[in-house]
Amino acid sequence: MMKILILNGPNLNLLGRREPGIYGSSSFDDYLPRLRERYPEVEIAYFQSNVEGEMINKMQEVGFSYDGIVLNAGAYTHTSIALQDCIRSLKTPVIEVHISNVHTREEFRHKSMISCACRGVICGFGLDSYRLAVEALIVNS
Ligand code: DQA
Repeated sequence: MMKILILNGPNLNLLGRREPGIYGSSSFDDYLPRLRERYPEVEIAYFQSNVEGEMINKMQEVGFSYDGIVLNAGAYTHTSIALQDCIRSLKTPVIEVHISNVHTREEFRHKSMISCACRGVICGFGLDSYRLAVEALIVNS
């Protein structure tokens, strides 16, 4: 069975409550069971942390055995060389996702420190960005 980790970074535990005009009104806990139902042939693990080091620990833990990581690094996307180095170190392909279209937003969100290390980038499709990333991992596996 294919194994994928969805890893959400800082403030994404507040989905549904956080700036709903940008990120929507569904929590990730509501969304995840629907995603799992849609892909019964894939084992989808989930981890969220507001702490950069915990995200790195999690990626190192699964990054040599899982078939893919779907990563929404939140604001660390725009700052973290440590995440970039981690992604580069792994065997498992990482797909960068964003709920919002970061390119239509503030200029500081246009730059990603992690895209260059990722297999691909999906942004701007709301929570469906995660599904599109899972789909991309399946199709390219
Ligand atoms: C985000 C976009 C980031 O710029 C922001 O810091 C987030 C969420 C998104 O999913 O649209 O926390 O990654």
